[in-house]
Amino acid sequence: MPMSVLYCRDPLNPRRVDEHFAPEAQEVRANGGAVGLIDHDALLQGDAQQAVAHVPAGLGNAWYRGWMIPSDRYAALAEALSRRGIELLVATEQYRAAHELPGWYSTFVDITPASVWCPTKPGEMLTAEDLAVLAEPLLPGPGIVKDYVKSRKHEWEQACFIPDLADVVGLTRVVQRFVDRQEEFLAGGVVLRAFETFSNLESVAAEVRVWWMDGEPRLLTPHPDSPFGRGLVPDLDHIRPAVQRLGCRFVTTDVALRADGLWRVVEVGDGQVSDLHQSSSRGELAALLVGA
Ligand SMILES: Nc1ncnc2c1ncn2[C@@H]1O[C@H](COP(=O)(O)OP(=O)(O)O)[C@@H](O)[C@H]1O
Ligand SMILES: [Mg+2]
Repeated sequence: MPMSVLYCRDPLNPRRVDEHFAPEAQEVRANGGAVGLIDHDALLQGDAQQAVAHVPAGLGNAWYRGWMIPSDRYAALAEALSRRGIELLVATEQYRAAHELPGWYSTFVDITPASVWCPTKPGEMLTAEDLAVLAEPLLPGPGIVKDYVKSRKHEWEQACFIPDLADVVGLTRVVQRFVDRQEEFLAGGVVLRAFETFSNLESVAAEVRVWWMDGEPRLLTPHPDSPFGRGLVPDLDHIRPAVQRLGCRFVTTDVALRADGLWRVVEVGDGQVSDLHQSSSRGELAALLVGA
């Protein structure tokens, strides 16, 4: 049976793959894989059964590739698919472990910026006292705020970078803006991380996305936001054991070169929902998925 990959359907043209992923899906087919479609909107609105209504039953084991899915919705997707005889190749607990910082942090603690977190509901604001206690283990120095999954790095000064974690007023202001602007999309809770100085190439951090399949680095791509092509080759010897300990079949690590020459893991992600830089080959990723 060919390997199957489930993509998000195009909301305007439900028989087609979402245009962001269409070239990749085409390569999956070209590599002998089967493609199924799920309705990402229905899934996020709470109707998992509707989301999988057009997935052919008996597709076998499948990867998902598409837009991010909150972990509880991923669980609903896995269950709805299972009822149609389809098993996702990444179990819900593995997805959560790779997708959310608290899931992967302890495995990567020595090779990623020091971090603390506090579960919160969207819109819920931590008090200045709560934040001071939370930030304590990271002092002294600057930091960043994000949720379990995403930052607001495009609003760096306003809602991401914290110049001094010991300045409770400044800390609270940035975290408050972050929480406000995440609105109902805030995932899991608030994360604070110690800031590390990464080396810059023309003011953009030298970040590389490493795609790991079954514990081995199989593809290196520029970070999706990077204007640079290939070229930087990170040292992964100290990162491989952590990825293997995490035990997830398909993950990405975004690695950045720290000013002292060490490659650090900025972020771990589930490979199914990691974006591929526009310059990167869809064919190589498709071959990886189909050949797994
Ligand atoms: N601890 C840190 N120290 C220095 N820069 C950081 C740190 N954490 C994140 N960054 C910078 O902010 C960007 C966004 O952070 P990241 O954790 O990758 O969030 P997102 O999920 O939004 O991509 C990173 O690509 C990196 O350039
Ligand atoms: Mg990132």
